[in-house]
Amino acid sequence: MKLLEERILQEGIVLGQDILKVDGFINHQIDIGLMEELGKDMAEHFRAQGITKVFTIESSGIAPALFTAKYLNVPMVILKKQVSKNLRTEVWQTEVASYTKDVSYELTLAKNYISDMDHILIVDDFLANGEAATGAVRLIRKAHATVAGVGVLIEKVFQPGRSKLESQGIQVYAQASIRAFENGQVIF
Ligand code: G4P
Repeated sequence: MKLLEERILQEGIVLGQDILKVDGFINHQIDIGLMEELGKDMAEHFRAQGITKVFTIESSGIAPALFTAKYLNVPMVILKKQVSKNLRTEVWQTEVASYTKDVSYELTLAKNYISDMDHILIVDDFLANGEAATGAVRLIRKAHATVAGVGVLIEKVFQPGRSKLESQGIQVYAQASIRAFENGQVIF
């Protein structure tokens, strides 16, 4: 999407070989107007698929997932990385290892927010190694629901996220696809 690519070129900062910092409009401060446009586009892309819920993984996926769900007119569900002591209900869980942050966590979903009738769109900010999205797919399949696809704002095509998902039969849509970082510049 041109709008997102232009914003990345204007404000994104390349860190080292493989990290793009977008704290000014996605990861720390959020541009609500931009998120709404991205959510609208995401909803249009998947509209024909009969989606019943939009799932995201806390925390940076929440903003785009919220607007996607608004334009699909379905509920949005946040998959938790830390289980609240107040979550006194039965849960589905799966372990996810994050390469970028060198940590692992139990992705957690209360059983009452998913059913075997659900057809779910997963929305997140970045697709890098694809571990978070693959964990979300595992969780959804454990609950015998189906996955409509994975929609991300930014995909780094030189990392294995897309191929990991596509090899499991999952459709991937990225609004900005970064081919490489060259001399501190983003190449789409
Ligand atoms: P994965 O999510 O595709 O499996 O990749 P990975 O394990 O490598 O990513 C771990 C975390 O780092 C994720 O955020 C992911 O969104 C973020 N990340 C990966 N590459 C980049 C990048 O180039 N720029 C930025 N800004 N973030 C990146 P998270 O741990 O889920 O954190 P949160 O921000 O959603 O709370």
